[in-house]
Amino acid sequence: MKITLNAPLDMHLHLRDGDMLKLAAPLSTDFAGAVIMPNLVPPVTTPSAMQGYASRIAAAMDGAAFSPYMTLFFTPMGEKELISARETPGFFGFKLYPAGITTNSEGGISDMAQADSTLKLMEEMGIPLLVHGESHGFVMDREQEFLAVYRHLATRYPRLKLSMEHITTAAALQLLDEFPNICATVTLQHLIITLDDVAGGALRPHLFCKPIAKRPEDRDALLQAALSGHPRLMFGSDSAPHPRCRKEACGCAAGVFTAPIALPKLAEIFAANGALENLQAFVSDNACRWYNLTPVQKTVTLHDEPMTVPACYRSYGEQVVPMYAGETIGWSITD
Ligand code: NCD
Ligand code: ZN
Repeated sequence: MKITLNAPLDMHLHLRDGDMLKLAAPLSTDFAGAVIMPNLVPPVTTPSAMQGYASRIAAAMDGAAFSPYMTLFFTPMGEKELISARETPGFFGFKLYPAGITTNSEGGISDMAQADSTLKLMEEMGIPLLVHGESHGFVMDREQEFLAVYRHLATRYPRLKLSMEHITTAAALQLLDEFPNICATVTLQHLIITLDDVAGGALRPHLFCKPIAKRPEDRDALLQAALSGHPRLMFGSDSAPHPRCRKEACGCAAGVFTAPIALPKLAEIFAANGALENLQAFVSDNACRWYNLTPVQKTVTLHDEPMTVPACYRSYGEQVVPMYAGETIGWSITD
């Protein structure tokens, strides 16, 4: 079996900076483009910082045709600043983090009222808002508790292009169906694993991420929605490389590194469920339609030839362990 995908997109990607960027960037070049997250240290909050980051990404891609859709870390802004952001080449939208909710998000928003005037302007200007939707409640309930905020945003700013990032619950899918003005991304790992895979037996730090994987019924609902080609559900890997020493550690950093295996594993899952014909929508068409994107020309062909996933990626002095490290997965990219 085979499938050729046209311009696959990763709508939520962490590429980091420095040596980690040099390691990670070439591992996403089967994608035609990706939405690049701004949670560097310090976060990317200004158009000039964003432009600098975009050029470091381009250099790390080493000539590959790849569109980095750049985000700015949301901070309250006036009209002039928003205009300057929108006019900056490569700018895609803002990523809003509740303060302290995940890796490098300390400068995020602690009260949505602080964001009101900026969001009104963004709605008028057609600037997308991507949200890490978790409360500060009990870890398993954080996404569900945040749904009230999404509901508020979707009602108060009905024309805002709003994305629920990396959804992990059946409840978030229900909200997606309720509000036609919201879209969502979902990761690879949240289509596959539950909390049991992370912590049900020996702890598996490389599967630990935010939001934490949830219950079987949540995973199953997300998988069914993705397989059905739900028109407002998009693939966003949330591939989040951390140095091996920060994952295999007391105080393990949150993030699963899936970039190198994302497309083959998605093809394997869609094929196993008889839904290969909906993979194109999930990994590209839904995003292109929602955001009016015209990615660079690129096709990727995948086939049901197994591949063994490296135990660890090592370069530029960095070491990162991918999902399925050392294991064999059923599909691979044709040469
Ligand atoms: C991400 C990271 O490491 O930057 N971690 C994660 O667990 N997903 C941040 C994020 O997207 O929450
Ligand atoms: Zn992320």
